[in-house]
Amino acid sequence: MVGPWPRSAMAAPWLLLVLAGVVLRVHGQADNLGFISIDCGLPVSASGYVDNATKLSFVSDAGFIDAGTNYNMSAEYITPSMGRSWHTVRSFTGASARNCYTLRSLASGLKYLIRATFMYGNYDGVNRVPVFDLHVGVNYWTTVNISDADTPVMVEVITLIAGDRPAQVCLVNTGSGTPFISGLSLRPLKDSLYPMANTTQGLVLLSRSNLGTSDSKVIRFPDDPHDRFWFPESKPTEWLEIATPLKVQHYDNDNFDVPSAVMQTAVTPINASKPIEYSWDAEPSAKNPAPGYMCILHFSELQVLPAGTARQFYININGILALDNGFTPDYLYSDPVHSTRAFDGFHQYTVSLNATPNSTLPPVLNAIEIFSVLPTTGVPTAAQDVSAITEIRGKYQVKKNWMGDPCVPKSFAWNGLGCSYAVSSPPSVTGLNLSSSGLTGNMSASFASLKGLQYLDLSRNSLTGSIPGILSQLSSLTFLDLTANQLSGSIPSGLLKRMQDGSLTLRFGNNPDLCSNGESCQPQNKKKTSKVALYVVVPIVAVLVIVLLLVLLICILKKKKGRAARNSVRLQNEASIALSRTRGSNGQSSVCLDNRRFTYAELEAFTDGFRREIGRGGFGKVYDGFLEDGTQVAVKLRSESSDQGVQEFLAEVRSSQL
Ligand SMILES: *[C@@H]1O[C@H](CO)[C@@H](O)[C@H](O)[C@H]1NC(C)=O
Ligand SMILES: *[C@@H]1O[C@H](CO)[C@@H](O)[C@H](O)[C@H]1NC(C)=O
Ligand SMILES: *[C@@H]1O[C@H](CO)[C@@H](O)[C@H](O)[C@H]1NC(C)=O
Ligand SMILES: *[C@@H]1O[C@H](CO)[C@@H](O)[C@H](O)[C@H]1NC(C)=O
Ligand SMILES: *[C@@H]1O[C@H](CO)[C@@H](O)[C@H](O)[C@H]1NC(C)=O
Ligand SMILES: *[C@@H]1O[C@H](CO)[C@@H](O)[C@H](O)[C@H]1NC(C)=O
Ligand SMILES: *[C@@H]1O[C@H](CO)[C@@H](O)[C@H](O)[C@H]1NC(C)=O
Ligand SMILES: *[C@@H]1O[C@H](CO)[C@@H](O)[C@H](O)[C@H]1NC(C)=O
Repeated sequence: MVGPWPRSAMAAPWLLLVLAGVVLRVHGQADNLGFISIDCGLPVSASGYVDNATKLSFVSDAGFIDAGTNYNMSAEYITPSMGRSWHTVRSFTGASARNCYTLRSLASGLKYLIRATFMYGNYDGVNRVPVFDLHVGVNYWTTVNISDADTPVMVEVITLIAGDRPAQVCLVNTGSGTPFISGLSLRPLKDSLYPMANTTQGLVLLSRSNLGTSDSKVIRFPDDPHDRFWFPESKPTEWLEIATPLKVQHYDNDNFDVPSAVMQTAVTPINASKPIEYSWDAEPSAKNPAPGYMCILHFSELQVLPAGTARQFYININGILALDNGFTPDYLYSDPVHSTRAFDGFHQYTVSLNATPNSTLPPVLNAIEIFSVLPTTGVPTAAQDVSAITEIRGKYQVKKNWMGDPCVPKSFAWNGLGCSYAVSSPPSVTGLNLSSSGLTGNMSASFASLKGLQYLDLSRNSLTGSIPGILSQLSSLTFLDLTANQLSGSIPSGLLKRMQDGSLTLRFGNNPDLCSNGESCQPQNKKKTSKVALYVVVPIVAVLVIVLLLVLLICILKKKKGRAARNSVRLQNEASIALSRTRGSNGQSSVCLDNRRFTYAELEAFTDGFRREIGRGGFGKVYDGFLEDGTQVAVKLRSESSDQGVQEFLAEVRSSQL
């Protein structure tokens, strides 16, 4: 299907054009900012360097990826003319099939030109060239097929990165050899450039040719402010080269910003009655069986046409007229024509420029770019989840395969992450299992930023500090495992409440400072464990209700009564309670006690606000309640008005047997 081809720039009065040119030059300088030029495999120790030819600064890739191994290319493949960035590669032999670079440009903007380069150079001494995939963000980009050891491969895409996300380039092992990479570049583009690249489609470069130059030099930065590579191309048997020393300018609504050096040369047919023809083959692949193509033809009249002459031609693609009228390029102004829709369905495509009957001069063509269209319709993980999990990854230095998008594509979702893929909303994180992952430090508040979290397993790590109360705001959380860490302090009342109403399963055993005295939990530790006796003293600071709270915990034994552990009373400013939990094993039932302190609020949560009174004694009322793990407890409130003293009360508590 051949789309309509608008002329992107219309003729405008001279004065306006000169002014526009001034504006464009200012913009052109700003475009140089924000380049990222990475020499993959360059050791961190080797500081970056400035490339001789372009004066661009290259840096090591160490700051952009934390997987892979550095290699040097085999010496026999290194030639003096070869740029330094080719000498080293990073190779990905690890267990993770997908390895991603994260490129965060300093320049704000959404549209980027991303270029990746590859030269095998037998870096691994195995002499086996690989085939692997590249992804950009969450979308398949291209398949890199290395044909031999000394042929450089370069791929380029122009794409929009949605939202405030970094650009990510992933190498994907498809089982046909070890992915590696030599260089990676990111060039921010103004959004007005390449208008065909939008949020739903990117442009994968097939060719970018500078026609009419006898020079074999590739034009790039600094001649091209966006560092595109314009490769010279000629057909000496068909094309005649024409050139001008005069600068070719841009209209101010120019969408392609082609360097004047490229526009100053053009081709025209040797046989003036023949068309200019430019062909390319479709390159279908397994991943993109019917690629669509777009092309951009860059025209400028380079000659002053004598009176009575005219240059006018039709633009056809595979014989289909692409512009309704004959086209006449403007003198010394870039005058591009580009497809607005992809064409597909052919094995080969031929652009032909045929002079109209009125034309006295043959057609011209200065430069041409061919792209295949890349659907970028993959939806990345919800932004707030990405930032939360990225924060978590950073804080705990999680490696695993935690690169690229957390949930997308599904087959590369991060290990330990559960994701939901609802149709109506972006993928989101619903579960996180970092059990036995060597986590140290305190619990990140970012766990609570994963709003859709249904389970969180942080068991068997070395987490310290207290449990963030904000976790109780995770309304979907039904399973929280904090077992076997070094957490301290008390369990937030919000979580206790959630346990009590049955909406949350909370596991927190084996956190010695959380439920105190872990040793006493061991059945073999008999010295301290004589009988079950639990008591708590809770001084409450309150104006209206001045009560001393005492909590009696009844350890519920699932089997028979076991041995009991006894702990000393803690009289502290805050509420304290001795907890009992059952840890039977091998049929041998045992009771253990962990000392733990509670706040009044927590006791309130246990008893659901002192709702179920189950008795009344000399010291005050007794309430029924449940601990977070479901253990039934009795909470005794000691009324200040009680005429019995604290010592008697404690004695009563101590004598309570299960
Ligand atoms: C780059 O330029 C410096 C100084 O002119 C020179 O010493 C060096 O050999 C050059 N490197 C390459 C790779 O051309
Ligand atoms: C690559 O070569 C340099 C010297 O040219 C050497 O210092 C470095 O250790 C080599 N790196 C590897 C990974 O072999
Ligand atoms: C890679 O290229 C070679 C030669 O061009 C071709 O035979 C092979 O099928 C390609 N492999 C893939 C996976 O595209
Ligand atoms: C030029 O092309 C026309 C049309 O294809 C052909 O008839 C003519 O012979 C060609 N002239 C030369 C000199 O090749
Ligand atoms: C992107 O451009 C294509 C045509 O070139 C169009 O079909 C599509 O709707 C555009 N997407 C957006 C989000 O504008
Ligand atoms: C060719 O010239 C005639 C007469 O000047 C004009 O009517 C016609 O529109 C022109 N054709 C094209 C394609 O411009
Ligand atoms: C977390 O992973 C461990 C093993 O890696 C497994 O034993 C545990 O059941 C998992 N937790 C959840 C909540 O799935
Ligand atoms: C964890 O520790 C950091 C730094 O020590 C501190 O800023 C942060 O508030 C702590 N977070 C929690 C939840 O305690």
